[in-house]
Amino acid sequence: MERLDKRLANTGTWSRKEARELIRAGRVAADGTVCRAPEQKVPETAAVTVDGAPIGGGGPVYLMLNKPAGVVSSTDEPGERTVMDLLGPEWRNRGLFPAGRLDKDTEGLLLITDDGPLAHRLLAPKRHVDKVYYVEVDGVLDQGDAEAVEAGIVLGDGTACRPGELELLSGSAARITIHEGKYHQVKRMLASRGKPVRYLRRERFGPLILDPDLPKGGWRALTEEEIQALFRQ
Ligand code: URA
Repeated sequence: MERLDKRLANTGTWSRKEARELIRAGRVAADGTVCRAPEQKVPETAAVTVDGAPIGGGGPVYLMLNKPAGVVSSTDEPGERTVMDLLGPEWRNRGLFPAGRLDKDTEGLLLITDDGPLAHRLLAPKRHVDKVYYVEVDGVLDQGDAEAVEAGIVLGDGTACRPGELELLSGSAARITIHEGKYHQVKRMLASRGKPVRYLRRERFGPLILDPDLPKGGWRALTEEEIQALFRQ
């Protein structure tokens, strides 16, 4: 048996003090049970998690982040706040990266992982993973816009977008589904209709649905079901 704070500190990721704080904050579980006592002894074989993720470089990590506006989707960009800065220090230097990009001013669902092969598969253009966005534009969206999205919009530079879906919600708001991920795609599609995007939030990425309990800037580990669904994608 080993003290829980020692077990965390032994990974080299946290100091003993940081480990005690994490435990008292209720972020640490041993074999699925949250444990708030740093001095609690756990068997060496116990599966210990922090925020649901195995410690000590266990398996791959899969996090769902509710990206706020104002941060960039990269691991390191001089002069910018990145999505990685939103995660706690325990997630630094673990090889995590955002699987895909949202623009700096776009909010919503971003998958953060260290599983390169899965990310590669999900982002492969041929895979056509669905992405669903809530969008608000300057102007009024109408049936003509929905039909154009469904037919496949050709952008100003001649790039052809695959057919998508546009569900009209109110005058300027809609839910748009695209099946690819070209640079600034939603903004360019709607700009080509003369309706510049003024707000964009990703609500779905393949089988993953943005958790409504996650505040902007909040994140959590994916559940086992969510991970399995990603692998089936
Ligand atoms: N389309 C965009 O234009 N921006 C994003 O961030 C995502 C999709």
